[in-house]
Amino acid sequence: MKKLLWSLTLFGVILIFPVNGVMEYDKMEKFTDFNGTNVYQTENNVKSKAKVTMVGLTLIKNAALRSAVCLDGSPGGYHFHPGSGSGAKNWLVHLEGGGWCSDTESCEYSKRTSHGSSKHMEKKIPFTGILSDKASENPDFYNWNRVKVRYCDGGSFMGDNENKDAKLQFRGKRIWTSVMSDLLSNGMEHAKQGLLSGCSAGGLAAIFQCEDFKSSLMSSTRVKCLSDAGFFVDATDVSGDRSLRQLYTDVIEFQSITNNLPNDCLNRLNPTSCFFPQNLINQVKTPLFILNAAYDSWQIQESLTSKSADPTGSWADCTFNLAKCNESQIMFFQEFRIHMVNLLGGFKEQRKNGVFLNSCFSHCQTESHDTWYSKNSPSVKNKRIAVAVGDWFFERGGAKIIDCAYPCDKTCRNLI
Ligand SMILES: *[C@@H]1O[C@H](CO)[C@@H](O)[C@H](O)[C@H]1NC(C)=O
Ligand SMILES: *[C@@H]1O[C@H](CO)[C@@H](O)[C@H](O)[C@H]1NC(C)=O
Repeated sequence: MKKLLWSLTLFGVILIFPVNGVMEYDKMEKFTDFNGTNVYQTENNVKSKAKVTMVGLTLIKNAALRSAVCLDGSPGGYHFHPGSGSGAKNWLVHLEGGGWCSDTESCEYSKRTSHGSSKHMEKKIPFTGILSDKASENPDFYNWNRVKVRYCDGGSFMGDNENKDAKLQFRGKRIWTSVMSDLLSNGMEHAKQGLLSGCSAGGLAAIFQCEDFKSSLMSSTRVKCLSDAGFFVDATDVSGDRSLRQLYTDVIEFQSITNNLPNDCLNRLNPTSCFFPQNLINQVKTPLFILNAAYDSWQIQESLTSKSADPTGSWADCTFNLAKCNESQIMFFQEFRIHMVNLLGGFKEQRKNGVFLNSCFSHCQTESHDTWYSKNSPSVKNKRIAVAVGDWFFERGGAKIIDCAYPCDKTCRNLI
């Protein structure tokens, strides 16, 4: 049951709900509902359909032959919206997130959702935030070719195996290579600029696949990678244990991922450690941007105070409503933030890299207009996330941003 929750929480409930009054409902400009099919605009609390570009699902051709399949054996897929004008030769590839599955029960559960089967994927999804095609919502990337790769392997695009007895396919790696090969032959091989991004489990995947993305493109192409809410920390939870570490150990074993982890990490550390970005980011040669909330709401709820770490639920009031946290609980979060800041120390010193670590309780900030580039999106020193990412990509300067500690930031779109 605990494992079920892991897959349930990521991306069920995350995109939206403000609970502590920091973001009031009537201030929200747009939100995506749970399954991502409908986007509404709110004006004076009246819901109405907004004019958002909806982009159709492309299933990978000959997916079975290429083993580019979801957990249930159905074809993997992606959504593609073509670039135009000055962006016609630039490519943004964005990897969807959605937790991990680590045993028969949790992977069986995923098979009945879009995170394990293309049979359950929406045929069209809204392109918003970093995927938006409107200059007013996405100033630097709106006219690029934009791709969202669907996540249905439960292993951050890292597995390449199967479990015949359990009728499960672990083919994330094949999905990645097949989508890349199809995009390359559809024009991406001539890309002038390329950005690989991803959110949550997809943000972790963007770190894993960054060097591969770089080497698939011409050496003259400007290539960079952006990990949004993918900085999952190997942290001590409230019980003194490491519940996320246990989950990753199980995912790696169940999906036989060890051999696909980066060799230079495996030479130094054990496989589980090589699933944590803190042990990978300093070795990535391609310019990389780490965007994360310092008080990542998913990590607070599912790692620091997970069911196994807090079986009696004594933290639940606090982790679902910040206003109910006592001083020592807030102190615990402050220590988590300091840990994250320290882990980014060496990374931040490398000139090529970018960092935006804002002091919010949220998770995934590139995909929605509210957090990416709306006029009251989260910002640090008046710089919104879209601006920081653009400044880093185009080398306009000022893209190493670490916010002051909670509660100094009044621009957050907190989720708890
Ligand atoms: C998505 O949710 C809406 C209601 O919120 C529902 O009508 C629709 O059938 C759902 N679509 C899918 C593919 O689950
Ligand atoms: C804060 O809450 C936690 C969890 O309920 C509890 O264990 C702790 O004793 C509380 N601390 C204070 C100072 O009230």
